[in-house]
Amino acid sequence: MDFSRFDDYLREVNSEIEGLLQGEPEKLYVAARHITLAGGKRIRPLLCFLSCEALNCAGENVIKTAAAIELIHTFTLIHDDIMDRDSLRRGVPSVHEEFGETTAILAGDLLFSKAFEMTDPRMVRILAHASAEICEGQEMDIEFERRKKVSESEYLEMVEKKTAVLLEVATKAGAILGKGSRKQISALAKFGLGLGMAFQIHDDVLEITADEGRFGKPLGSDIAGGKKSLVIIKAAEFLRDREKEEFIRILGNDRGADVQRAIELIKNSGALEYCMEREEDFIKGAIDSLGDLPETEAKKSLFDVADFVIRRDS
Ligand code: IPE
Ligand code: IPE
Ligand code: MG
Ligand code: MG
Repeated sequence: MDFSRFDDYLREVNSEIEGLLQGEPEKLYVAARHITLAGGKRIRPLLCFLSCEALNCAGENVIKTAAAIELIHTFTLIHDDIMDRDSLRRGVPSVHEEFGETTAILAGDLLFSKAFEMTDPRMVRILAHASAEICEGQEMDIEFERRKKVSESEYLEMVEKKTAVLLEVATKAGAILGKGSRKQISALAKFGLGLGMAFQIHDDVLEITADEGRFGKPLGSDIAGGKKSLVIIKAAEFLRDREKEEFIRILGNDRGADVQRAIELIKNSGALEYCMEREEDFIKGAIDSLGDLPETEAKKSLFDVADFVIRRDS
């Protein structure tokens, strides 16, 4: 999917971010800029902007709010890599790997604080509420590592909190700044939430199937880390007899887990196909929620983003 027509807008978002991440001690600010400016798909700022545009309204402060949402996202990535013990992010060493854990924690905190300095004041409560939900989701994710069994509905609740709420905030904030009606705001919020659910299921699948160089994150880290992603839950359910036993044994072996073999078993289990169906359900629900929105170029682009979320290979 070619989103290059939004390059100018995303450049403005990036320059807002870069402008705010200057200061001393130098090490802290270099660390804060490290993965923030190392790429990233910028899907949340794009959703914020398009949601505003879909209401045919220029929308004050949409760039600043979109940038603030990206900062909150990046803050969660830095802390997430410490929690998940992952050393690669956006194709570069993760912040704790490059600058140490203490500076990484502080760099994350800095981005979080700067987000609130930057956003439109009307968005403060919404962003604060979403951030608290992300913490809840992340705690669930970590608790699930220690559990043998996690149900699909528990996984979905965790994903809604750790990931989908921030995409929901992106579309909702764009709709509020675009002066949408209550109905339009709620439709766009629902769209973002559905996209967020599909986004995370797909991301968990890419952990198994992607090319690491393009993906920019370590493959198989969920298997080694005992994560209960949908694709892992379903593979454990679908595999039979000796393969099932073997898969469960690998999952339980946090040191030296045979990640390659587990990936092979997942690929033969039917779990990838199951996840694709669930992703499509969420995307269909998201698209349906925009039924009453006027037919605009921006709406078409929102649908392109929805398609990208489940077709992307990195
Ligand atoms: C990664 O999000 C974390 C998840 C919610 C799966 P993105 O895939 O949007 O990460 P970047 O911003 O493109 O690096
Ligand atoms: C995604 O976490 C959600 C947040 C970072 C809040 P994951 O741990 O599932 O995502 P990756 O694989 O590290 O990007
Ligand atoms: Mg995580
Ligand atoms: Mg992670």
